[in-house]
Amino acid sequence: MCGIVAYIGNDAAFPVLVKGLQRLEYRGYDSAGVALLDPSLKVYKKQGKVAGLVEFTENASLKGYAGIGHTRWATHGAPSDANAHPHVSASGRLALVHNGIIENYALLKAVLEKQGHSFTSETDTEVLVHLIEAIMETEEVPLEAAVRMALQRVVGAYAIVVMDADNPDLLIGARKASPMVLGIGQDALYLASDATPIAEYTNKVVYLQDEEMVVLRRGGTFEIKTIHNELLKPTVQELDINIEMLEKGGFDHFMLKEIHDQPRTIADCMRGRINAREGWVHLGGIEACGSRLTEARRLIFAACGTSWHAGLIAEYLFEDLARIPVEVEYASEFRYRNPILSEEDVVIAISQSGETADTLAALQLASEKGALTYGVVNVVGSSIARNTHAGSYIHAGPEIGVASTKAFTAQVTLLTLMALHLGHRKGTIAEDYFRDLLQELETIPDKVAAVLEQDELIRSIAVEIQDKSNALYLGRGYNFPVALEGALKLKEISYIHAEGYPAAEMKHGPIALIDEEMPVIVLATNQSAHEKIASNIQEVKARKGKVIAVVTQGDTWIRDMADYTIEIPETLEPLSPLLSVIPLQLLSYHIAVMRGCNVDQPRNLAKSVTVE
Ligand code: G6P
Repeated sequence: MCGIVAYIGNDAAFPVLVKGLQRLEYRGYDSAGVALLDPSLKVYKKQGKVAGLVEFTENASLKGYAGIGHTRWATHGAPSDANAHPHVSASGRLALVHNGIIENYALLKAVLEKQGHSFTSETDTEVLVHLIEAIMETEEVPLEAAVRMALQRVVGAYAIVVMDADNPDLLIGARKASPMVLGIGQDALYLASDATPIAEYTNKVVYLQDEEMVVLRRGGTFEIKTIHNELLKPTVQELDINIEMLEKGGFDHFMLKEIHDQPRTIADCMRGRINAREGWVHLGGIEACGSRLTEARRLIFAACGTSWHAGLIAEYLFEDLARIPVEVEYASEFRYRNPILSEEDVVIAISQSGETADTLAALQLASEKGALTYGVVNVVGSSIARNTHAGSYIHAGPEIGVASTKAFTAQVTLLTLMALHLGHRKGTIAEDYFRDLLQELETIPDKVAAVLEQDELIRSIAVEIQDKSNALYLGRGYNFPVALEGALKLKEISYIHAEGYPAAEMKHGPIALIDEEMPVIVLATNQSAHEKIASNIQEVKARKGKVIAVVTQGDTWIRDMADYTIEIPETLEPLSPLLSVIPLQLLSYHIAVMRGCNVDQPRNLAKSVTVE
């Protein structure tokens, strides 16, 4: 939620900021703004996307070698020019960008108002920049000390960068519970919400930790301290992102590129971790946990959104293959439920961004209660990756489309590897079946590529659904979570109301909705419940619903019942979600494009939800 970027160096700051904001736009796109020292402080901000800001500043001089920028996902105050960041202090000397929420802002605001401050926005952020300046004045301290003192009064989450017109060679950043990365370039320094705005300038980064501040000086020197003024030795890390990963690579949208990336990302996730010929699966994260994972009394998956759907698939995988009882929790519910946890439990957080506030908080709670915590994360160095006892990266590379696609299949791949590893170690899976699954897993990237070749057919089916107001997705067993994910994809990017259901549950309610206007997308690949699914299709057809069936190649029986069929290659049932989700991703994509929706940046959504 909200992206921030800052630059100080010898080049013009504006182009660096704008490019950085474009990379961070997945975090929110309600407004965009920059502040530059030109050499006086100039602020340009506009409701809407970064492209709108660029248009707005077309005739501005935009000088300055230091600057801060922000792209907003609105929390306090509607999207508007006034509520856009950067916000400035009472005298106009300081400018600040913020990602997070200052929870006690109303209290702080009331005190400042009594002291004569007036505010031009409804945001919590404006209160913070006023507070910093008020402290500078009343305590007669320099900016750095004032930022420190202000942050000690703040309750909530923040990643901030402050600039001061009276100190043009200085920027100050700080974070707590919202991410911030420092980039160390040649005579230039960068701050950003993630590494994507930094990657094209340098591969040297420092991931700031909670309650840390960084003071950046022109010339490339910096200091990292706690907000209690203890100097820290920075841990400089090397980035593993290349620029091609951040571009559309000839596709019309990031989402389409990411859908087509999946043969590679699934292979990347497995690379070096399995060998079907030799019959082994290895995950360093599991090894690091000793026996705590194999002997766990219970596994609890905590996640949100699409990652929660991956968790539901994990429930089938781990119970089926490793015979460990599993619960799957919405992180936001779990953390407030006073859950019963012990040292025998393992809480596994699944998160693409590694920054989702509720998932992070669920982990912290689990850790406090003595459970082992494990992260299944995409973004390297993210908060969840750093705040778990152990974990495994899914190696999907940067995912930029707001609707998650390649991260989902990489999560499911990784969770499959985990279940296989544990099942094999525990002896709950027959050796032959284990080897069959490994062999089959190695073929999945090619089979995904074969599904992608049906893009044109899927597009033609999308034509039939594009004008509908509702859609129903049905699946059983391993494919039930895929039905939920298919429905979520459609809702997210095309704004068509969609529901996912276990196929048998249809009779307990949703069947009432079926008429000739209702497309019903049925995942009908399951070997184990094939007849049952066929009956469910008949029930839909009897009520004049339109059936779009995803079937195994050569399944003429279902094909003859359905209005449209999409064939996917045959695979073993535990691996079927990796194939069956692909047509649903493409279907949503094409429908959204046909409806003229902004596929990569759907309304009201953000990719990284760092507020509760
Ligand atoms: C947001 C995104 C979803 C994502 C969810 C969880 O809602 O729009 O695509 O699945 O957050 O995010 P995470 O980064 O924790 O997987």
